[in-house]
Amino acid sequence: MKYFSLLIIFFLIAGCSKHTIQTSNTKFPAGQKLYLSKCGGCHRTYDRLEYSPEEWDSILVTMRSKAKITDEQEKEILFFLKERD
Ligand code: HEC
Repeated sequence: MKYFSLLIIFFLIAGCSKHTIQTSNTKFPAGQKLYLSKCGGCHRTYDRLEYSPEEWDSILVTMRSKAKITDEQEKEILFFLKERD
């Protein structure tokens, strides 16, 4: 019975993680780290596939001042957000 509960918990966690951003498969781990730390404070971390690369460009124009990031950090974050497999 104990193992059964553990199994349920495992599936709950696995189910939720589908909605969070992929944590592997990126060529830009630095950008991903910045994104998660700088952009996740005010709202959920939107999945990069939710917006097109062009949309990310204009979103970052507004969000970079909210997140108080440098040009260099903005570039890293955009590399990560615009990466497509
Ligand atoms: C200081 C708080 C704050 C930080 C930090 C922040 N955001 Fe936001 N963000 C908001 C608010 C508030 C909204 C919703 C209101 C709006 O659209 O202006 C929003 C909306 C968004 C949206 C939805 C836009 C849309 O068109 O629906 C995206 C995507 C987004 N932010 C991405 C980011 C990214 C990427 C970063 C990091 C560079 C970031 N945010 C950092 C406050 C923040």
